[in-house]
Amino acid sequence: MSEKRILLIIGGGIAAFKALLLIRLLAKRGIKTSAIITKAGEEFVTPLSVGGLSGEKVYTDLFSLSDEQEMGHIELSRSSDLVVVVPATADLMAKAARGLANDLASTTLLATDKRVLYAPAMNVRMWEHPATKRNMDILRENHALFVGPVEGDMACGEFGFGRMAEPEVITDAIEKILAGETNIDALQPKPLKGKHVLITAGPTREPIDPVRYLSNHSSGKQGYAIAKACQRLGAKVTLVSGPVAIAPPQNVNMVQVETARDMLAACENALPADVFISVAAVADWRAREAHDRKIKKDQQKLQPLALTENPDILHTLANGKNRPGLVIGFAAETDHVLKHAQAKLIKKNCDLIVANDVSIGAVGGDVMGGDNNKVIVVSKGGADAWPLMSKIAVAEKLAKKIVEILV
Ligand code: C5P
Repeated sequence: MSEKRILLIIGGGIAAFKALLLIRLLAKRGIKTSAIITKAGEEFVTPLSVGGLSGEKVYTDLFSLSDEQEMGHIELSRSSDLVVVVPATADLMAKAARGLANDLASTTLLATDKRVLYAPAMNVRMWEHPATKRNMDILRENHALFVGPVEGDMACGEFGFGRMAEPEVITDAIEKILAGETNIDALQPKPLKGKHVLITAGPTREPIDPVRYLSNHSSGKQGYAIAKACQRLGAKVTLVSGPVAIAPPQNVNMVQVETARDMLAACENALPADVFISVAAVADWRAREAHDRKIKKDQQKLQPLALTENPDILHTLANGKNRPGLVIGFAAETDHVLKHAQAKLIKKNCDLIVANDVSIGAVGGDVMGGDNNKVIVVSKGGADAWPLMSKIAVAEKLAKKIVEILV
């Protein structure tokens, strides 16, 4: 293998000192390191210590005339095989996701034609914030790679996700990428490999006539996030979705449906599955008769809309002969959330119910359609109230819970 070189961007976080160990570990494996330190990064490590370990010039300033004459900021990333951001702070990831370029690090991230590996490190609340999750999604779409973060103690005294991957793990990841591993998620563990996860999401749409329908405010965000989280952990995912305005997730088997009856048929068709997660807000009723011509106003006055009950997809699958080993229902409630969730767990024969309060005012009144969720996870063994999180963070935590149960 010819000599490999990475461009290390050191962000401003308490984990920056670990970048020094990373440089040493890389050197031991014959990988050279050029480094850029952000202004905030310089509060944690000095160019002298970084340069001392890498044996190379360290870059800090975008508008340095001497640096530009020696090696322009465009050239800096071009002459490396991989760009690695350690620690990847929330700020650096936000800049890279949005294409900001107001210092050497962000300009390089925008100008590079190389893959970028991020090792995120931040406080758990910052990690779980919807803004960070959105930025991660954008970076992933732009083919960025991620290593970590992991769960653990943090410098701020809290415990949770956001702790940077250890330098040894980052070194292994770098070596794999340099050896040609291009699968974006291949660096993360795949505990759900070989499992089929069936998920419903979004609303259903029940026709009244060719122009009108019955439906609800479900956006599909929570179900789609769960589909992505399970897929990332290696599961084969089938996502049966009602009409939503979200792009289909990559590497997920999508089945688009309109009505509850179509959704049930699509789910039954997708069986067998190891896990069924019923996130969809299925319309409980449909018009008894879907007219094939538009109903006139006066016609409706004479004959009010008659409704009939839709099939309960969750109940049907949870009690069918092909019952998935793990069945998870969702319960959107406006009152007595826990009590109703416990009753639903038994009534629908589920293993878990993820209950949330969708009353106006709960989570700022924006659960349905919004980016955040506050849930109680109810099983026969008890109830676990999770803090307010982004829907993406709820999805990741639920996917991890599924791993704990199954594996
Ligand atoms: O009874 P309720 O509608 O509150 O139950 C919610 C749970 O049941 C959700 O998991 C939802 O996806 C599922 N459900 C279903 N089919 C229906 C109604 C609800 O699968 N017709």
